[in-house]
Amino acid sequence: MAQKNTKRSKPDHYSERARKQGYFARSVYKLEEINNKFGLLKRSGRYLDMGAAPGSWSQYLVRTLQPDLKLVSVDIQEMKYQGPGNLHTVLLGDMYDHAIQQQLSSLGPFDALLSDAAPNTMGNRTVDTLASAGMAEHLIFLARSLVVPGGSLVIKIFQGGEEQNLLRMIREEYTTAKLFKPKACRKESFESFLVGVGRK
Ligand SMILES: C[S@@+](CC[C@H](N)C(=O)[O-])C[C@H]1O[C@@H](n2cnc3c(N)ncnc32)[C@H](O)[C@@H]1O
Repeated sequence: MAQKNTKRSKPDHYSERARKQGYFARSVYKLEEINNKFGLLKRSGRYLDMGAAPGSWSQYLVRTLQPDLKLVSVDIQEMKYQGPGNLHTVLLGDMYDHAIQQQLSSLGPFDALLSDAAPNTMGNRTVDTLASAGMAEHLIFLARSLVVPGGSLVIKIFQGGEEQNLLRMIREEYTTAKLFKPKACRKESFESFLVGVGRK
C-alpha cells in the first residue's frame, strides 16, 4: 500500500537541489550516496526499481547510464517519470501481486533490485517497522529468482529491531551485507538501507 504523507516534511537543501536538477524527489540523493559507497551501477546493466514513484531513482538510473541500461520500474501509484521507451518499462501494480511477479520474471533477470518502497505508515513505530521488515523479507525472497549471480540488492527499511535478522539473511546470500544510512535521509527519519553486494 502507498505511504500516506500525513505530515509534509519541510523542504531542505536536498529538496532544493532536486528541484534545480529537475528530479521528481529528493530521494535521488540517497541512491546517489549508496552508489558512490558501493559502486553498484554499471553500464549495460539491467535494473529493477521497486516502489519507484514518483520516479527520481529511475530518472537517476537513466541519466547516469543511458543508453546502456534496461530499467523496469514498479509502483502501485502512477510514475511521474517515464524514460525512453526502448530503455524503460513501467509496471503499475503491487509487488505482492503474482501477475507483477510473473511479468518481472519475463523481463529479468536483473543486475540489481533497488527498492525505496515504503509500506503505508500508521504512526505506530512497532507496527510500521514490522510492515517494513515484512516488505524487506518479501524483496529478499523475490531477489532469489530475479537477481543474477554477482548482482546487488538495496532495500529501504524502517529501523526497529528486525534489521539485524534481515542482514543475516542477506549475508547468507551475498558476499557483502551492510546497513547504510545515507546523509540525505532526514534526521528525524528512522529509515536506513539494507545493501547486499555480490549475490552468491
Ligand atoms: C518513498 S516512495 C519512492 C520514491 C522513489 N524512489 C523516487 O525516488 O521517486 C515509496 C513508494 O513505494 C510505493 N509502494 C509502497 N508499497 C508498494 C507495493 N506493495 N508495491 C509497489 N509499490 C509500493 C509507494 O506507492 C511509493 O510510491
